[in-house]
Amino acid sequence: MHGEDRSSALERIHGEIWRDLCLAASHPESAYRWMTLATSSSDGAPELRTVVVRLVDRERMTLSFFTDQRSTKWLQICRSGPVALLCLKKHPLVQIRLLGMADFASSGEAISIWHDQHLGIQQQYYSRISPGRALKFVGELAVTPKTSTIEAISNFSVIHVKVHTIDWLSIDKSEGDRRAEFTYGSGEVEARWLVP
Ligand SMILES: Cc1cc2nc3c(=O)[nH]c(=O)nc-3n(C[C@H](O)[C@H](O)[C@H](O)COP(=O)(O)O)c2cc1C
Repeated sequence: MHGEDRSSALERIHGEIWRDLCLAASHPESAYRWMTLATSSSDGAPELRTVVVRLVDRERMTLSFFTDQRSTKWLQICRSGPVALLCLKKHPLVQIRLLGMADFASSGEAISIWHDQHLGIQQQYYSRISPGRALKFVGELAVTPKTSTIEAISNFSVIHVKVHTIDWLSIDKSEGDRRAEFTYGSGEVEARWLVP
């Protein structure tokens, strides 16, 4: 471990994970910007999709993304808060898996976040037709009048995921594959090495 003892290596890795997560929210090109979010459907089947990490709060250990409150994922999170997030960094090759509890920002908070967003993001919430609905023809959305700004804001939802476990896996020829788990209890971080 190049002179670094095992527990300080875990501390360093933990710091790197959160540094990269914070970068995801502020830098569109950063490694963890796009995450795979897993929820459960009503019959317990897993469902996956990509979301963009928009906000990260290191102190509260939360990651946030935006979605349409008419979407399937929104309904699934309403039904059941536990979610998983997956992301991959290519250089060096690192996978992180996050387990957490999803919750919705209050409408006051969502409105204030809405006003901080540029038009390109806001426009996604003006559709009169709900996400996932069948179209009568391919161009139907483009010719359907947009909804009002009040409606668009009510479609806009901010989901916070409070992370309770991080599983970190590094695939590295020179150092060897390494895997570590970080769990957050009552304020304390518990870190341990796992078999990769
Ligand atoms: C690069 C990329 C980024 C995406 N980011 C988001 C996002 O931040 N929020 C979101 O609701 N959907 C996002 N989507 C779309 C979702 O992956 C998904 O297709 C859509 O929201 C429907 O998911 P659902 O039916 O499970 O709700 C993104 C898709 C791609 C390809």
